[in-house]
Amino acid sequence: MPVAEVRTPVHVEGEVVVTKRVGAHRHLTLTAPGVPERFRAGNFVAVSVPGHVARRALWIHRVRASSAFGPTLDVVLEPRGEGTSWLAAQPVGAKVAITGPLGRAFALPKDAVSCLLVGEGYAAAPLFPLAERLRERGCAVSLVVSATDESHLLSALEARRAVRSVTVVTADGSVGQRGQVADHVDDLLRRAGADVVYAAGPTDVLRACAAAAERAGAWSQVALESPTPCGTGLCHGCPLPVAGEDGVDRVVRACTEGPVIRGDRVRWDAL
Ligand SMILES: Cc1cc2nc3c(=O)[nH]c(=O)nc-3n(C[C@H](O)[C@H](O)[C@H](O)COP(=O)(O)OP(=O)(O)OC[C@H]3O[C@@H](n4cnc5c(N)ncnc54)[C@H](O)[C@@H]3O)c2cc1C
Ligand code: FES
Repeated sequence: MPVAEVRTPVHVEGEVVVTKRVGAHRHLTLTAPGVPERFRAGNFVAVSVPGHVARRALWIHRVRASSAFGPTLDVVLEPRGEGTSWLAAQPVGAKVAITGPLGRAFALPKDAVSCLLVGEGYAAAPLFPLAERLRERGCAVSLVVSATDESHLLSALEARRAVRSVTVVTADGSVGQRGQVADHVDDLLRRAGADVVYAAGPTDVLRACAAAAERAGAWSQVALESPTPCGTGLCHGCPLPVAGEDGVDRVVRACTEGPVIRGDRVRWDAL
């Protein structure tokens, strides 16, 4: 069974150093002293939004150990509510309060096994650094990126060198296979011969991946987006129903025991 890692987060003032629109998304590169250095694939950051008590959680899409700005991290925003719209509108030089890296990272397999990575929309962000870590371990990685349409698809081009194959699925068929990725998971899993499935996206996609993995006798880990008001384990406002190692159902905190968790442990009906 893969082993997860937990690291101590820091609360720092970050700065927007690059901002770029890509389709329906906004990609930001931020300095956040101490965060890139502690990062593991699957971690997120919590960003303070002026006028809001609840911080907004964002997957860390990529870190650079060094750049003209020092160590940086990238996030991908799909602007919808006040928080994501405010952050997406921040210009280069804007200061942002950031806490991170937060949450349990993806557990990596000990052996060079075959892995299927399934990501929908912006939420595919944490799978890209995961693909690189898996490749370093000699794993065969098959990546599936999906979205409603092409503009909501996170580009898989940059991930190509880290993976064995890339499959693209869009609901409207604007690029790649047409349909819902959840309907393709069994087939994708069989073709990849995957021993482990990693999934990031809406709950229905995660649930479908966990169920398909169970049917195929594979491990699954899902990156859940339950609302996380503080992100640091303090407010207990992120209940996540799971089955414990002892088989007894309980509620844990999504921000600390998750957001990455074994798919077969999630009590999907109680979410
Ligand atoms: C671990 C984690 C990582 C995330 N990573 C990203 C990311 O990389 N990029 C990104 O754009 N978003 C990400 N999200 C989702 C984002 O944090 C929330 O959608 C957040 O509420 C957006 O804030 P807002 O003020 O823009 O919208 P809000 O005004 O808070 O809400 C907009 C809509 O989203 C719904 N909503 C609220 N909270 C959540 C939630 N946690 N998940 C799903 N829907 C919610 C609301 O009901 C409303 O319909 C992540 C969430 C989590 C928990
Ligand atoms: S978000 Fe506050 S404890 Fe999890």
